[in-house]
Amino acid sequence: MTTQETQTQADITELKFPPGFVWGAATSAYQVEGATAIDGRGISIWDAFVRRPGRVVAGDNADVAIDHYHRYRDDVRLMADLGLSAYRFSVSWPRIQPAGAGAVNQAGLDFYRRLVDELLEHGIEPWLTLYHWDLPQALEDAGGWPERDTAKRFAEFAEIVHEALGDRVRNFSTVNEPWCAAFLGYASGEHAPGRRDPAAALRAAHHLLLAHGLAVQAIRARDAGTRIGGCVNLYAVSPATDSDVDLDAARRIDGLQNRFFLDAMLKGEYPADVLEDLSAVSKPDHIRPGDMETISTPFDVLMINYYSRFTVTGVSGGAASAAAAPTDSGSPWVGSEHVSFVNGGRPVTSMGWEIDTSGLLEILLRVKREYPAIPFVISENGAAFDDVVTGDGAVHDADRLAFIAAHLRTCHEAIAEGVPLEGYFAWSLMDNFEWAWGYGKRFGLVYVDYATQERILKDSARWYAETIRRNGLSLPAE
Ligand code: FCB
Repeated sequence: MTTQETQTQADITELKFPPGFVWGAATSAYQVEGATAIDGRGISIWDAFVRRPGRVVAGDNADVAIDHYHRYRDDVRLMADLGLSAYRFSVSWPRIQPAGAGAVNQAGLDFYRRLVDELLEHGIEPWLTLYHWDLPQALEDAGGWPERDTAKRFAEFAEIVHEALGDRVRNFSTVNEPWCAAFLGYASGEHAPGRRDPAAALRAAHHLLLAHGLAVQAIRARDAGTRIGGCVNLYAVSPATDSDVDLDAARRIDGLQNRFFLDAMLKGEYPADVLEDLSAVSKPDHIRPGDMETISTPFDVLMINYYSRFTVTGVSGGAASAAAAPTDSGSPWVGSEHVSFVNGGRPVTSMGWEIDTSGLLEILLRVKREYPAIPFVISENGAAFDDVVTGDGAVHDADRLAFIAAHLRTCHEAIAEGVPLEGYFAWSLMDNFEWAWGYGKRFGLVYVDYATQERILKDSARWYAETIRRNGLSLPAE
């Protein structure tokens, strides 16, 4: 070794993760599978939504997506090459119950059985999400998530999936990011089913939480050994200034984004101030006796998706303007439509999302401090950047690599501070269909050439594989 190499070695600190730390990557069914019209799959709300003009950038759809349905074997081999210890994927409800209720499509279950077996053969732990936003269209036709019945159908669906796969999948989770499903789906209309009805969005939020609780109970009753996760997308929230209106704006956004879901799932109540904010929108007559107990049925792991921090500002007379907000506001911030989001002065990803690792630490410490003890995993974290394939066929995504490294460093710090963090899932394993943004936003560790379906490891994927191998982060000393 030359002197220079010796010095370089000495200048590098290695941050080791605890033994058994889960190193994962995540995808979801609609974003990767394609094969939407074969083997008996029914239609989902996203299949219908993408066909509505102007809803998805460039008119993209996920009929083919990245063809994971046919290429899953190669994709699992790729995961094994990276050394992943876990893969988080979701099951497509309409592939399994084409009409959302009743008849089960065996071919759909068989696909997931093949996928799970392939994962297990490669020593990769399957983490199965039951609902990542692809509601069967038949259930939306019957009223969708604003209807209580949808939550009951979901619990039946959870039992069907557990019956088929519970012998080989240890980690189940219920609903991915109920905030998005409720408020982007039913209030702003940015996501399927594209409704703009704030009162319906509130009902949807409650029924998505009820669906979570009913599914926890259904799975628990079948098998006490299954580990069940509940998933929320949390944001750090800061007021733009310390003025009263900005502080109130931050309270409201934190309330609807974070506390509404955490308090319901972990404490069995909705925060009183948030209910008050929402009282002008609808009477909560959809909340029935016993619901909050169901929603707060104990589960095993809190799955936190973290991307960014919000910096917010209010306007004076905010409460009055919220009350007067039109029902067709197109805002997901039901009851707080007057709040504006401003740039807090940090660099952004190509989504325009501010990069803020301190927000991740803030959230992890807060949830540990303010809620009953439960293990955590980061079930999604990652960034879209405008990747380019270079002449030599590589993708030098230094920005994404730095993003993930910084967030993992924060995870390490959180663990050192006593946060019970058991794993990290990068979003996403591969570039895929990014909802209303179509294929324009790339989040993958692995680049996908959508014309040929070729997979190319980005630099971030190679670096992640090395991090997994060492169970630690190498950082230049400060
Ligand atoms: C999350 C979603 C995931 C993906 C990432 C970027 O909100 O769960 O499907 O779209 O954002």
